[in-house]
Amino acid sequence: MAKRFVIVTGGAGYIGSHTAVTLHEAGFTPVIIDNFSNSKPEVLEGIAKIIGEIPEFHEVDCRSQSVMTDIFQSYAAQGEVIGVIHFAAYKAVGESVKKPLEYFENNIGSTVALLGAMNASGISNLIFSSSCTVYGQPRKIPVNENAPILTAESPYGFTKQACERLIKDACKSNASLSACLLRYFNPIGAHPSALIGELPLGHPSNLIPYLTQAAAGLREPLTVFGNDYPTDDGTCVRDYIHVLDLAAAHVAALQWLEENDASCEAFNLGTGQGKSVSEVIQAFEDANGIVVPYIYGPRRSGDVTAIFADAAKAQRELGWKCERSLEDSLRDAWRWQKKLAE
Ligand code: NAD
Ligand code: WQD
Repeated sequence: MAKRFVIVTGGAGYIGSHTAVTLHEAGFTPVIIDNFSNSKPEVLEGIAKIIGEIPEFHEVDCRSQSVMTDIFQSYAAQGEVIGVIHFAAYKAVGESVKKPLEYFENNIGSTVALLGAMNASGISNLIFSSSCTVYGQPRKIPVNENAPILTAESPYGFTKQACERLIKDACKSNASLSACLLRYFNPIGAHPSALIGELPLGHPSNLIPYLTQAAAGLREPLTVFGNDYPTDDGTCVRDYIHVLDLAAAHVAALQWLEENDASCEAFNLGTGQGKSVSEVIQAFEDANGIVVPYIYGPRRSGDVTAIFADAAKAQRELGWKCERSLEDSLRDAWRWQKKLAE
């Protein structure tokens, strides 16, 4: 049978590596493109151990349209290229405030180059990694896909809004191009094998990597950013989704694009349940039987009080929903942290 290739830009990264594994399990052949700007070659070994073969890989900067076009065409000659999942981007909100031009250049530049390479190679299905950050603090929660896109709080958030817009416009101008804009809420956890997970590069700004490192005694106690918010326990509320549930949504979206005559559709990917920071700490302690050292500190600038997904559209259209609990995610996150310490 002809191979069914899926190009995965940023496939050595956190979400991309889990999605590459899930694509393989679903019968696709992932082709990873990454420049290791925020990942390491060892990730490919972890993927290989899980899927039982060395994944197709190209160390390339996906801003290079001509190189990407050559790669796409070489796979089209060997089988069918079903689509592209575009993870490659810089993702640190705080860093984007300090280096906006780098974020615009990489995140928007790679998306423009990718669309050009897809066009030149006749690839028609695109899945884009967007973010709930496009909603800012929505007026109504749970938030659905029709909520207004508010002025971005950060250059990072702006790049997600800009890429969504340029993909929409590209789809309008090219009837054969179809896209899903997947708005992730808060991805956490790791593969239960602990062979892949989120790489700790530098000081973690996200809750779970910081929490696991603090629990492991590698960092100062976790600072809970604010306990005076208008929520039940005073701490911020988010929608934490297991990275493997998120990965499965990409496969569902790809299959949906193959089967439907879609143009450009946005989908929220979350559990639909809001959890506060205090609830996450408690769930981590319950799931892993260890105490999390933490203190309360001031609010972090730019944080929204509460956001969680209305993911009914993804369930209805893609036939996808989360299968894993918060405790599952936190157990896998802790297993990954312990593996890192070996
Ligand atoms: P990550 O940094 O772990 O993975 C991104 C990968 O892309 C890295 O391996 C990096 O080396 C690669 N990359 C970056 N620029 C590149 C380029 N120009 N050419 C080739 N490779 C390049 O990030 P992640 O957490 O896996 O996030 C994946 C995507 O999901 C990103 O677009 C991110 O903005 C989006 N997203 C992430 C989250 C989250 O909390 N992790 C939430 C919402 C959206
Ligand atoms: C979660 C909660 C913090 C660290 C970010 C991006 C968003 C998206 C997902 C990419 C918040 C609290 C955190 C700490 C804490 N990424 N916290 N102490 O801010 O919801 O979303 O990642 O698209 O765009 O903004 O995630 O993990 O940073 O924070 O109390 O040391 O944990 O205040 O309530 P966030 P996070």
